[in-house]
Amino acid sequence: MAPLSAVSGSSKGLQSRVFGDIEAQFQLEDDVLHSITTKFLEDFGSGLGEYGHPMAMIPTFVTGVPNGSETGTFLALDLGGTNLRVCEVKLLGNHQFTLRQQKYRVSDALKTGEASALFDYLADSVDAFLTTPTVSPTTAASNPFAGSSAIDEIDPEADPALPLGLTFSFPVEQTALNEGKVLTWTKGFSAKNAIGNDVVKLLQDAFNRKHLHVRCVALVNDTVGALLSRAYTAGGCLLGAIFGTGTNGAYVEKVENIRKLGDHPARKNGGDMVVNCEWGAFDNTRGVLPTTQFDNKLDRESINPRLQAFEKFISGMYLGEIARNLLLSLIDSAPKSLLFNGRSSKLLNLHYGLDTAVLSEIEAVWESGRHPDVEVKGVEGGHDPIAEEQQPEVPKPKINGFAPPAHFLDIDSHSPEDRSRLERIRSVIVQRMELADEDVTLRDAAIVRWASALVADRAAKLSACAVATVLVQTGHARLGGGVVPEEEHLIVGVDGSLIEHYPNFNARLRASLRMLVGEEVERRVDIGMAKDGSGVGAALCALQAIKQGL
Ligand code: GLC
Repeated sequence: MAPLSAVSGSSKGLQSRVFGDIEAQFQLEDDVLHSITTKFLEDFGSGLGEYGHPMAMIPTFVTGVPNGSETGTFLALDLGGTNLRVCEVKLLGNHQFTLRQQKYRVSDALKTGEASALFDYLADSVDAFLTTPTVSPTTAASNPFAGSSAIDEIDPEADPALPLGLTFSFPVEQTALNEGKVLTWTKGFSAKNAIGNDVVKLLQDAFNRKHLHVRCVALVNDTVGALLSRAYTAGGCLLGAIFGTGTNGAYVEKVENIRKLGDHPARKNGGDMVVNCEWGAFDNTRGVLPTTQFDNKLDRESINPRLQAFEKFISGMYLGEIARNLLLSLIDSAPKSLLFNGRSSKLLNLHYGLDTAVLSEIEAVWESGRHPDVEVKGVEGGHDPIAEEQQPEVPKPKINGFAPPAHFLDIDSHSPEDRSRLERIRSVIVQRMELADEDVTLRDAAIVRWASALVADRAAKLSACAVATVLVQTGHARLGGGVVPEEEHLIVGVDGSLIEHYPNFNARLRASLRMLVGEEVERRVDIGMAKDGSGVGAALCALQAIKQGL
């Protein structure tokens, strides 16, 4: 049993104030979420009208979404975070696909070194994948393109190279399905001599240097991949969104609204085009995002200060770091430390030493045995909130257990069940933060649980603003609620560790979405996992490119 720390009466009040103050900084009232969404809509308009805005609203030249009847086998390469993946995707044409994949780790040296070394590594990984004699679940031969393949759709005499779709999850100003210049790096990448260059060419040059018979025919962002792959499995999709290491969304826009395309032939044909918002860069000037000192420290110490402001409030790369900053401020607080007996650990002192997965684990323990989470459709073991006749009550996010700020500090008033949860959280903290057992009390466990919820709840609420913006922009909702034409489900494809695994992230997002666009619309929003979106999306784009003769 962990010791309970003794707190004297007078310092109790002071401590409550400190915790109350921090909590107030993280709270986002409804009117603030409204203002943020309004600003989001304005920035959508500016980005669609002109080039050069931070939230780039990038035309992707993907002019339709699949309906599930597409077939073919393609190579896909996915670069966007800690790992890179090479996949062989087989589209079966009945809304289904099979996929064989291999992950390769991208070291920090590759992320920050010369771009040519990074792209050589990508080419080497594709080479390794093609020559690895693994038996695919769908094809018995080691050559992934044996049997029916995209090669069936091109003339092998004219071009025997294997077609590959590249999912490149960074801001790229696309000029065609198979062409686009790197605008900037995000998510901890900073490879030299990439910015301003065509990413397809960088990859193709690497393939050529290695004499690989592979041709990169299409370039796609992971959000576009999520949108296309959810459309493929669900028969349609309005928005593809990522809530993972980074955050971003791509949606189907009317070409006439993408005014910056001017008289580009793609605009003359009318119709729709998928736009990659790059919403991670929303509010880089920090006009509307309520920033705490913990965010400021994170931004100042990041490799891209003043950039990706929205992403730094939301995504998995940063939530652990925001929480770490908060916990350190409590450890360091004077005249009396408010956490861990004033002790830290090597890990906790380390920049990015606290992984968002630890917050997720802590919240999972706290939520265990309570009401079921409203999981995203497609998450293993999850249910489909839309398909059920009676939608379950979305649990309200519990920042401090429905109690006034700092109530969570009063361990004695907790139920035996909650105390036992805190015991388990205490063990997680000792283990994952590498702290000495005697330095972590139950009260400390309650504080870390509270801090995790503050950070994640704010992230989910802000995520709802981005989703609401797309619904309003496309005429499917009105900000503040209100009547919109009766419609079927509004399909959203999502991917990323936060939305898939973080307890209640989806429920918290939906609760704020409901507040922003009204219950009627929110109930129709069908949020489902776009599993393997990057691979399937790249394959679908490669198919479109080949059909266009690229
Ligand atoms: C970052 C990238 C963006 C990507 C997102 C999710 O925001 O800039 O292109 O879609 O992360 O991976």
